[in-house]
Amino acid sequence: MKILPEPNRSDGAAGSAAELRSWKREIAPDKVVGLVATMGALHEGHRSLIRRARQQCDLVALTIFVNPTQFGPGEDYSNYPRTRDQDLEIARAEEVDLVWFGNSDEMYPDDFATRIELPSLSAQLCGESRPHFFAGVCLIVLKLFHLFEPDRAYFGEKDYQQLVNIERMTRDLDLDLEVVRCPIVREADGLAMSSRNVNLNPAARKEALALSRSLFRARELWMEGEECPVQIRQQATALYSSAVELDYFEVVDRDHLVALERIEPGRGAVICVAATIDGVRLIDNIQLEPR
Ligand code: PAJ
Repeated sequence: MKILPEPNRSDGAAGSAAELRSWKREIAPDKVVGLVATMGALHEGHRSLIRRARQQCDLVALTIFVNPTQFGPGEDYSNYPRTRDQDLEIARAEEVDLVWFGNSDEMYPDDFATRIELPSLSAQLCGESRPHFFAGVCLIVLKLFHLFEPDRAYFGEKDYQQLVNIERMTRDLDLDLEVVRCPIVREADGLAMSSRNVNLNPAARKEALALSRSLFRARELWMEGEECPVQIRQQATALYSSAVELDYFEVVDRDHLVALERIEPGRGAVICVAATIDGVRLIDNIQLEPR
């Protein structure tokens, strides 16, 4: 397994783009390259993406970079878990071919000026409380796509709005790669896996279950014939205790992320939820399949 930047280099990380290009020239010509982009603190959710890439590609590149442009002031950038050695162990166990650690100074020099905006997909849901988030995500993902030129890139449905933004950017900008959707991996009790879960204390960890439970309840209501988002929201979120500071619980169109007044049985929908529990922001979602 190759690690970039080379751990023994004396000049810090500046120039890892050049190292990457030479890796591609030497190792990757004519190979199908799969990219798994992460911010590290790897868990089973990330591993599921790596495994999928391993099955479908000749070479698997894993990126680990806590991307500063997707964090707003006062958000948890400095507090975000960083577990380099553990991540490398996981990467080795999953037979990753290349692990690349991003460096902020290299990715964003002082005179960096470019923005990537998808206003119609990024202002709602998480965008309301995190207005710069998806611009930051799309910017780093587009840079990674250019640096790695992957044939396939793997993203989790856990971050549904992020996934839709990345898919649309890929289509709109005619990027020559396939974005592969991977299903949400959950703990045995239903909690969606997230790097932030380690910041939940035991009491908050229990409270956090309210999110997945409300989504499962909402899907049940949908299966039983309920088509009204207001009704679904009311009944599903009635389970929340005061420990759950709800940001949103929205039934939206799967492709355009527009809030629905009624769910068309033949079209289905997706329900996205975000809440803060004991200072930890969590998101989750569930698909309402057409019926
Ligand atoms: P991160 O939160 O580390 O997630 C990396 C990838 O793993 C994303 O595609 C995310 O959807 C997926 N993932 C996380 N938890 C998952 C779970 N429980 N089940 C399935 N997939 C899961 O998302 C980011 O990093 C960043 O925004 C990034 C795209 C790397 C850009 O900085």
